[in-house]
Amino acid sequence: MQPAAHTREWPAALAARVATFESAWNDYFQRVESSETRDSRLPEALRYAAVGGGKRLRPLIVIECCIASGGSADVALAPAMAVECVHTFSLVHDDLPAMDDDDLRRGRATTHRAFDEATAILAGDWLLTRAFAMLAAAEVDAGRRSAMVALLASATCDVISGQAADIAGETLAPDRERTIAIHRRKTAALFEAAAGLGGLAAATSEDAVERLRGFGRTIGLLFQIADDLLDVAADVEILGKPAGKDAARGKQTYPRAFGLAESRREADTFHAAAIRELEPLGPAAAGLRAIADRIADRAR
Ligand code: IPE
Ligand code: IPE
Ligand code: MG
Ligand code: MG
Ligand code: MG
Repeated sequence: MQPAAHTREWPAALAARVATFESAWNDYFQRVESSETRDSRLPEALRYAAVGGGKRLRPLIVIECCIASGGSADVALAPAMAVECVHTFSLVHDDLPAMDDDDLRRGRATTHRAFDEATAILAGDWLLTRAFAMLAAAEVDAGRRSAMVALLASATCDVISGQAADIAGETLAPDRERTIAIHRRKTAALFEAAAGLGGLAAATSEDAVERLRGFGRTIGLLFQIADDLLDVAADVEILGKPAGKDAARGKQTYPRAFGLAESRREADTFHAAAIRELEPLGPAAAGLRAIADRIADRAR
């Protein structure tokens, strides 16, 4: 039987890249857990939040954008880990009672449920800060290193302001412009940064980095439409996180603002735009096309 569209596996080359990232990421958090001072549960919570589930989409985008721009997977590892640290921070805090108040993430208890709220808040703070330490240690020239730090910092500020607007929007009537403005910041900004970081790691031209960022932004918007649609249509076993929560909390989502049919049409439009944006890269962008296709599958 054909697997459900949103659980489809990666092509072999991408699966291998995710596995390589996963192994470096696991090793890193194992070292963190064994080297941090063990006078609190923070080291254990950091590893819990980071390891065990997660599609690793954003690091894969960093790595594939780097490779498509002529760079190596090795040089992409530091920015890929940094982006996943910011993403993990955003999930740990997103699930807190003060925010979305969720008990389940990646098929198991959220970090504040498995530990406690203070530990989850501090684990998020640690991950966010560590992201920038990772970039500061990236083995690229000083100019590109500072461009990477600036790009990720600005995207992370957008994520945080998008999260604030997402919470503020809960008490408001569904609104298309507001929804798009939230999605751009809370989700698309980090996808855009992931793509740009891949280009910077490969030392590609400024124009090429801009093009990659445009592609990242497009698939980021597509990704959040898919996430909103899955919250309506999928169930908890598939998602590994609760379904139906967005409507219950009155979130500004695509399905609420645009309706299901138009949300799916918009997803198709973003998908087509993403594929077009990859044209200048030619065959080198095969992996990025597969990523765009997989995200689009999740919206169907
Ligand atoms: C969830 O992102 C948060 C959103 C931006 C919707 P992912 O669905 O990529 O989360 P993991 O890392 O795979 O669990
Ligand atoms: C999450 O949006 C965006 C960030 C975590 C920055 P959601 O709140 O929709 O993500 P899920 O559905 O809980 O994964
Ligand atoms: Mg949220
Ligand atoms: Mg949430
Ligand atoms: Mg969601």
